[in-house]
Amino acid sequence: MPTYELIVKNVRVVTDKAIKESEIYVDNGKIISIGFHEPVHSADVIIDGRGMLALPGLVDTHVHFRDPGMLQKEDFETGTRGAAAGGTTTILDMPTTQPVVTNPTIFKDKLKVVEKKALVDFGLYAAAGMENMEQLHDLAKIGAIAFKSYTVSPPSERVKEYAGAVVRNTGELFHLLENSTATGLLHCIHAEDDSVVQYLTSKLQASGRKDAEAHCESRPNLAEALAVHQAIGIAEMTGGKIHLLHISTREAVQMIRSAKARGIRVTAETCPHYLFFTKGDMQKLGPYGKYNPPARSHGDIIALWEGLKDGTIDAVVSDHAPHSREEKDDGREDIWKAPPGTPGVETRLPLVLSRAMDWGLDMLDVVRLCAKNPAKIFGLEWRKGEIAEGMDADITLMDPGAVWKIKSSELQTKARETVIFDGMEVKGKIAYTIVRGRVVFEREVGFEKPGGGSFLAGQKAISDFKV
Ligand code: DOR
Ligand code: ZN
Repeated sequence: MPTYELIVKNVRVVTDKAIKESEIYVDNGKIISIGFHEPVHSADVIIDGRGMLALPGLVDTHVHFRDPGMLQKEDFETGTRGAAAGGTTTILDMPTTQPVVTNPTIFKDKLKVVEKKALVDFGLYAAAGMENMEQLHDLAKIGAIAFKSYTVSPPSERVKEYAGAVVRNTGELFHLLENSTATGLLHCIHAEDDSVVQYLTSKLQASGRKDAEAHCESRPNLAEALAVHQAIGIAEMTGGKIHLLHISTREAVQMIRSAKARGIRVTAETCPHYLFFTKGDMQKLGPYGKYNPPARSHGDIIALWEGLKDGTIDAVVSDHAPHSREEKDDGREDIWKAPPGTPGVETRLPLVLSRAMDWGLDMLDVVRLCAKNPAKIFGLEWRKGEIAEGMDADITLMDPGAVWKIKSSELQTKARETVIFDGMEVKGKIAYTIVRGRVVFEREVGFEKPGGGSFLAGQKAISDFKV
């Protein structure tokens, strides 16, 4: 009788098409079979999943874990602990760490630093800008998961933090996309029109506005709409594959819908904060509610849910962007002084779940948006994002009936004091998070030690590529 690494018993398994009572057999980090075995086999670890749902480990393709370089905000250990506690087993980390990931040496150095700290599996983005266009092929070969570019410039005090990741105009984006397309890797775009943002920011500042809502007014729907329009147009012309980050406006949803209908290779994501908050919440949230793109209106929230429902928006990711409380509080009297960004890696699933049903989405849709699609967009679907035989045994066990309140003091992020979802009532509590057959988080026990998370190389990685 074979001994397995892990068996999860008496659990309702959320597979691609249905939810069914089953057992999950795991060995060597892989799902061996789903079903009932007679006689019952033995295992190193047996978990009784009674009352719980087994979801595929969630995939969060947009986090900023600030490591290396800005450890006062977060580090890879606290970041991946938050992921684990939130049921996320794969994260993709953005390249705006310090130094910005613009060449293979920096990529390799970052990998060395973070792999020792990771509790969950992870991939790393590379920045793409005019300055490192010659490096894109080598970045793909060393294992970058995708490229990331900003179409909007950072405030003057954060120029260094974004150096090499910003394109200054449409011509540059066109040229860059032609080059990134040649590598075969996906290009992810933070789409806000720089000229609109610069013009309105100066105007609002000159008029003496310092209130939190002024932040939203400085980056209106128009800014996103123009940049998304241009990015889609360039993707159409170059044949490049683009992914639009943190979509927040009804205009962008409509453009993406029609681009997809025309066969353009575009995918898109949104985040919980765009599904929950509006500009009207800014007074209450203050600088903690400052993020880019900003909070919008109720009409935009409706359009985003409709987009999620009809497949226009492919994924819900966190854009976990922590800043220390002190940094954020600088914006209390003057919103321009607060850095943009809000933490969310740990709270994504319960937030989405607690609203999804109201908008006509079911559990299978939520899993598609939070696990399967994000894995697929980044070429990881052959091992991540689904509970199926042969896949990595990344499994999240959740009590679907639990109703509870988010308590920011209990979250793992260093930025817990700035969490905007504090006190919110949500549904669905994670009990176990399993990465390739190993329990990395158990609510009643705690966390596995760091270092067990594996690096996920991008699709164009060449194993013997030397820096
Ligand atoms: O709000 C944001 N914060 N948007 C971004 O694009 C960057 C992020 C950060 O790194 O803080
Ligand atoms: Zn981001």
